[in-house]
Amino acid sequence: MLCRVWQMRSCASVLNQAASWKVGSRQKHTLPDLTYDYGALEPHICAEIMQLHHSKHHATYVNNLNVTEEKYQEALAKGDVTAQVALQAALKFNGGGHINHTIFWTNLSPNGGGEPQGELMEAIKRDFGSFQKMQEKLSAATVAVQGSGWGWLGYDKESGRLRVAACANQDPLQGTTGLIPLLGIDVWEHAYYLQYKNVRPDYVKAIWNVVNWENVSDRLQTAKK
Ligand SMILES: [Fe+2]
Repeated sequence: MLCRVWQMRSCASVLNQAASWKVGSRQKHTLPDLTYDYGALEPHICAEIMQLHHSKHHATYVNNLNVTEEKYQEALAKGDVTAQVALQAALKFNGGGHINHTIFWTNLSPNGGGEPQGELMEAIKRDFGSFQKMQEKLSAATVAVQGSGWGWLGYDKESGRLRVAACANQDPLQGTTGLIPLLGIDVWEHAYYLQYKNVRPDYVKAIWNVVNWENVSDRLQTAKK
């Protein structure tokens, strides 16, 4: 019996060592570079918005995510479940902010706009009737977000269909709804207010001119695997 207890303690000790090694080796999240200049999406999204949005707002989510994960790892190491639970909201907010913005920058392109091609277009026609109907549905859901949040075109892996959804705050689409994000529209005021003031519908209308459909198509292909 003693031997069995020793074996269990020894096993637990190895697991703890592995956990602390993992904690120490954790990679910090970093702000991804944009593949285009801050002014490249003008006149649809001005350079000042892009610069502040990327270098200040997104950077803050990244920094706060790293701080939160650090605290979470400490709580895990101590076995402090209360502290772990207390950190959930910050993890969701800053983790969601990092995930959402990382997708958003790649969804946009100075060479964007127009209509998608191939499989994505066929899926849009099948699930919404036409490209215009999808645009109307996603625009309406995005404009209607109360306060801050995001509108999304997502992929429902279970049914194999495209869906429109809206999320509050920085709630990440997949983590909170299960839909895989393909195209996100940020309707926090920091995304448009400097240029469009309180007229959110004009910003949502303009963003279609810079949607990178190749990126959205690539995301659909990956989501289907
Ligand atoms: Fe944002």
